[in-house]
Amino acid sequence: MPSYNKNIPVFLSEAEIKAKVKEIAAQITKEFGDEEITLIGTLKGSFVFLADLSRELTMPTRIEFLGVSSYGDQTHSSGEVKVTLDLTAPLNDKNVVLVEDIVDTGLTLSFVLEYLNARKPKKIKTASLLFKKVALKAKNLTIDYVGFEIPNRFVVGYGLDYAEHYRGLPYIGTLD
Ligand code: XMP
Ligand code: MG
Repeated sequence: MPSYNKNIPVFLSEAEIKAKVKEIAAQITKEFGDEEITLIGTLKGSFVFLADLSRELTMPTRIEFLGVSSYGDQTHSSGEVKVTLDLTAPLNDKNVVLVEDIVDTGLTLSFVLEYLNARKPKKIKTASLLFKKVALKAKNLTIDYVGFEIPNRFVVGYGLDYAEHYRGLPYIGTLD
């Protein structure tokens, strides 16, 4: 049986993540009540968080994905972002929750927020499961719903990869 996943030390357990996803869902519900929202996940890393979050929400939801990739090497983003997959529907007059796996320098989130705001949504809120506050470079960036503030370490699992590996790990582990 392949066992490469088993050697990754646990940083945030499945139970901790599950409880946090419920908390974030409650905050989103407090904000939007029964109004329809569009969840926009940035690919690829946010697909697991978005899937779990969407199942904790009870208002009508639309699901969109935005493919973004930052130029750079495996573990550092350069801040130059390109869109690799676009949305399938207009956002004007929609309530949007942008769903991010991790905010590191914040440069990706800044770019994506500007990109989405240009589509004139009614309201836009941002959720990120992980936030490396010490690494933040982008100015005036608000993350409305933060799961965990984490130190500046490289994490994998629960959607996050290292060279496309470990996305399916059910918990978040550290690689460094
Ligand atoms: P910025 O710096 O633009 O970066 O906020 C966000 C993107 O960088 C990647 N990233 C990570 N990916 N483990 C990962 O698997 C990490 O610890 C990590 N830190 C940053 C990720 O693609 C994210 O969307
Ligand atoms: Mg990545």
